[in-house]
Amino acid sequence: MNFDDFSSLVRARRTNLMIDRERDVEPTVVQQLCELATWAPNHKLTWPWLFAEVRGDARLRLGSVCADVMSAQGEPEARVAKTRGKFSRSPVVLVVGSEVGDSQLRTEENRDAVSAAVQTLLLGATALGMASFWSSCPKGANDAVASFCDFPTDTTVVAMVYLGWPTDIPKGFDRPAPRITRLG
Ligand SMILES: Cc1cc2nc3c(=O)[nH]c(=O)nc-3n(C[C@H](O)[C@H](O)[C@H](O)COP(=O)(O)O)c2cc1C
Repeated sequence: MNFDDFSSLVRARRTNLMIDRERDVEPTVVQQLCELATWAPNHKLTWPWLFAEVRGDARLRLGSVCADVMSAQGEPEARVAKTRGKFSRSPVVLVVGSEVGDSQLRTEENRDAVSAAVQTLLLGATALGMASFWSSCPKGANDAVASFCDFPTDTTVVAMVYLGWPTDIPKGFDRPAPRITRLG
């Protein structure tokens, strides 16, 4: 692949929830994407990424886990109700966690590595013609979601990625120029 091809792939990735809910994503595709993600750079080779593939009714259970936390925090009922069903907007939701490290620095670097892994995964999905959407874990719901996913205690949920086949693709938009300090 040359730079122009790679640049086109990077620029083609969109945060996209226009997903065909009825068209399944083969487990082998998810496996392929998770394997690709593990090629992200990772200081000290801690392999901090954890993946949970959430399908079928488990998507509703995941929504309920989040909604219950939001409700206990006193969030508006309309938002809580929306959250209960929101993970059914794609056939697969991939929850990506970052394992705690043996120091604060290592925990932070683990998270950096997992973020790189998520981007790698999104680019892989784009290369396969899939739609993807990186969503944050709802505020306050990290531990409940990590427990639902059987992740170890103190795992940080870095992303909840909606994955599926697109019904449409949003338009791209320009980025501001990079801010570069040039020295020397
Ligand atoms: C750490 C992280 C968390 C994100 N969480 C959300 C989210 O909760 N909801 C959302 O609509 N988009 C979320 N996004 C996606 C961004 O909004 C999106 O990348 C941005 O609008 C640029 O659009 P693009 O990805 O299509 O280039 C998240 C992105 C990152 C990197």
